[in-house]
Amino acid sequence: MALVTWHSNYTVNVKEIDKQHQQLISIMNELHDGMKAGKGKEVLSRVLDELIKYTAFHFKYEEMLFDKFSYPDTAVHKRQHADLVQQVLEYKENFDSGKKILTIEVMDFLKEWLTNHIVGADKNYSSFLNGKGVV
Ligand SMILES: [Fe+2]
Ligand SMILES: [Fe+2]
Repeated sequence: MALVTWHSNYTVNVKEIDKQHQQLISIMNELHDGMKAGKGKEVLSRVLDELIKYTAFHFKYEEMLFDKFSYPDTAVHKRQHADLVQQVLEYKENFDSGKKILTIEVMDFLKEWLTNHIVGADKNYSSFLNGKGVV
């Protein structure tokens, strides 16, 4: 069983962004699968790298749309993105420097953050972007 299953409630009504969110969820689930197979620590480094790369790509994509259409909540939303990037980089740094890192803690944090952000801040831009013809 996967950690997070895509739910219709997660849709932001923008096809490309839903696709990117599904990809983010899939990267998180890789970590979950690795843990289940008893190699959480082994896959953690690789998954964190993937996550860092993909979140950077995804956040840039959303922020490009905010800038393009002057989305009113741009500043707050960008702040949330920056905080997540910071947190994931911290996990990665701790991991690389050999500090004990709790895989379960990372997973819980990511699951909470991602689902809350999608159904909160991200869903908030749906009607705005749809109104600009972004669907
Ligand atoms: Fe997003
Ligand atoms: Fe976002």
